Amino acid sequence: MKKILFALAGLFLLILLQPPLKASSEQDVPKHFLVPPPPFSPGIFPCSQCHAFMPPNRKPRKLEMHQDIVLKHMPGGWCFDCHNPDNRDTLRLANGKLVSFDESYNLCGQCHGTILREWKAGLHGKRTGMWNGEKQYRLCVHCHWPHEPRFKPLKPMPPPVRPSDIK
Ligand code: HEC
Ligand code: HEC
Ligand code: HEC
Ligand code: HEC
Repeated sequence: MKKILFALAGLFLLILLQPPLKASSEQDVPKHFLVPPPPFSPGIFPCSQCHAFMPPNRKPRKLEMHQDIVLKHMPGGWCFDCHNPDNRDTLRLANGKLVSFDESYNLCGQCHGTILREWKAGLHGKRTGMWNGEKQYRLCVHCHWPHEPRFKPLKPMPPPVRPSDIK
């Protein structure tokens, strides 16, 4: 009996001591990108300071709160296409995977895959840092408000004054 127990314990230890599944052999392991903190409005994060006590309301409606947020992105979309109803401090991908706010580019990349690849390569967006050191990437949301990402057309400036009109 003791021998069997020892054998079992040994087996258990072996399983415990297995190196974790090798991530580096997987193709799609997300590399971690160094980014500045997400550009939240002051005081809004963590969202759970309010939402931990509220059941999620999945019904698309006019909100009494967050009135600065009017969705003009993804026709027919709603908050929970991106936010996690069960923990508002994280984002959620269509496949159910949770993503933290400092990795929101993975959320955007679900639909803007080409741009995400360009961003990683430094062709889209902005990176700062040393050419031989760590590079800091700006998140997509540092430049695009996720709820209405299109840039507003610039207001045309008044035409310059003709020299002859300067009195
Ligand atoms: C000061 C409290 C407060 C904070 C902080 C807050 N919320 Fe809310 N939020 C509310 C209230 C209240 C509602 C419900 C408004 C309504 O029903 O009209 C709401 C509604 C929502 C909804 C609509 C769905 C639902 O469950 O009602 C989403 C999505 C949401 N909040 C996301 C966030 C996210 C993301 C953050 C953090 C970045 C956040 N909220 C931070 C108070 C807050
Ligand atoms: C396309 C995906 C997407 C949709 C749809 C979406 N959000 Fe967001 N939302 C984001 C991301 C990404 C951020 C994080 C921005 C950042 O890092 O500052 C965010 C930030 C917020 C914040 C914090 C804003 C602040 O001022 O800092 C609130 C509140 C919020 N969302 C509520 C909502 C509500 C309510 C809806 C639905 C009416 C909604 N979101 C729909 C992606 C989305
Ligand atoms: C579920 C799919 C989906 C996700 C997720 C998504 N988008 Fe979009 N996005 C769209 C679609 C569809 C359009 C074009 C239609 C529209 O503008 O409403 C669009 C338009 C845009 C545009 C405007 C492009 C133009 O023509 O000027 C920008 C910028 C953008 N998205 C950025 C983002 C960012 C940043 C995120 C992540 C926070 C994101 N998107 C997440 C589907 C998505
Ligand atoms: C440093 C600022 C910055 C960052 C970071 C950034 N973008 Fe942009 N993005 C821009 C500008 C500026 C344009 C407009 C370019 C133009 O009109 O030629 C743009 C255009 C776009 C468009 C419309 C392009 C098209 O071909 O119609 C999409 C979609 C978009 N960005 C998505 C993203 C996503 C997704 C990310 C993150 C992976 C991201 N952006 C990161 C500044 C940024």
